[in-house]
Amino acid sequence: MSELDTLNKQYGIPGEVVFKMGPGDQPVVEVSNQSATATIVLQGAHLISWVPNGEQQVIWLSEDAKFAKGKSIRGGVPVCWPWFGPHESNKDFPAHGYARMVPWNVTEVSSAKGVTRIGFRIVQDEKAKAMWPHDCELDMVYSIGKKLGIELITRNTGKQALVIGEALHTYFEVGDVSKLKIEGLDKRPYLDKVDNFKRKQQNGAVTISEEVDRIYLESPDDCIIVDPVMQRRIHIVKQGSHSTVVWNPWIEKANQMGDLGPQGYLKMLCVESANAAEDVVEIKPGKEHCLAVNYSVEAL
Ligand code: BG6
Repeated sequence: MSELDTLNKQYGIPGEVVFKMGPGDQPVVEVSNQSATATIVLQGAHLISWVPNGEQQVIWLSEDAKFAKGKSIRGGVPVCWPWFGPHESNKDFPAHGYARMVPWNVTEVSSAKGVTRIGFRIVQDEKAKAMWPHDCELDMVYSIGKKLGIELITRNTGKQALVIGEALHTYFEVGDVSKLKIEGLDKRPYLDKVDNFKRKQQNGAVTISEEVDRIYLESPDDCIIVDPVMQRRIHIVKQGSHSTVVWNPWIEKANQMGDLGPQGYLKMLCVESANAAEDVVEIKPGKEHCLAVNYSVEAL
């Protein structure tokens, strides 16, 4: 029996949860219930689409995204774990950790009241263990409905404390990034990555008219993307996250990246619920930490 047949037999729900081959011959799970549709690539447990019924796409995926074994996808919800940004001492280790590039196993599927729940656990192979030699489990649980819930749970199964950085690096689809604003970060300090990590303070809502790459610290509050072009607000409610990364590469960086698509920078905005930079999480032996988000959309 093929891997997909086995998954469909064990976890499939006909018409609602279907495992199939997706782009780049990558296995995906497609969800369709009375509230929404969604697609998750099994590598990275990487969600690439979520459309609540009657709404437009909420999650941006580059038209030039590459789907390949061991490569991260430009768009969707990449998981950054167990470090955020470059590794602190080894420049050969992948930026944002390895969780978004490796296979994950499906651990649970259930359906109730218009919400489909799908759980994943990362596969920690020898290569991963060489970069992160710690005993731990990493689970991700999606709740797909009118709202999108994501929980990223790190469990310390070893005998020593763990220190992690992490982010749900969500790319939101927007009408025109230069016309929107992001609320919820007023008065928060931030590290400005495009100005040598200078520590600054936000005044008012965040707007984008050039490359923006900032780690907002002490920012546990909800954020709202107010998008006048798509005539909607995206609400980002989060728990277990004390930093928020706002990123848009703008024109020049986007051109260098090669997989952001023509005009892609205008149509995407990353608002990442994170524990990043100096905000790391320590997890004691036998304990767990959960970074959780809940996204919803409302008409303007
Ligand atoms: C953001 C970082 O979170 O991710 C940026 O703050 C980075 O500095 C961006 O460029 C994209 O990272 P990657 O590794 O997916 O190209």
